[in-house]
Amino acid sequence: MKLIIINGPNLNLLGKREPEIYGSQTFDQYFRELQLRFKNVELAYYQSNIEGELIDKLHEVGFDFDGIILNAAAYTHTSVGIGDAIKGIETPVVEVHISNVHAREDFRHKSYISPNAKGVIFGFGLKGYDLAIQSFL
Ligand code: DQA
Repeated sequence: MKLIIINGPNLNLLGKREPEIYGSQTFDQYFRELQLRFKNVELAYYQSNIEGELIDKLHEVGFDFDGIILNAAAYTHTSVGIGDAIKGIETPVVEVHISNVHAREDFRHKSYISPNAKGVIFGFGLKGYDLAIQSFL
């Protein structure tokens, strides 16, 4: 089982960024925990702040990996391009958000990812990535 976690803009700042919303753990720390917990899963990780790079990565892995766990962060709410990329690939995508986007500003309620995602997990903190991995097993 080959899965990849793809994180979008500003998620490189996890641990420092608005810790009251996103927690105080860095994603690198959390990723190591996931690797230890899911030893039978070949788990890759990619982060970019650039929309086109996220689309390129979706194209690269989207015919090869068994699953994509995507937190497109702010691009979730704006990117027709990322939405179209998900339509164009074969690998199923599970959308994750750390925070409960529906308990926040209205602009966070719209997602260009959800209509083509296999499922959506939000509001459980970093644990959402763990739940997303489990959804593929
Ligand atoms: C987020 C929610 C988005 O609205 C926000 O822009 C983010 C992170 C989350 O994981 O809760 O950057 O995707």
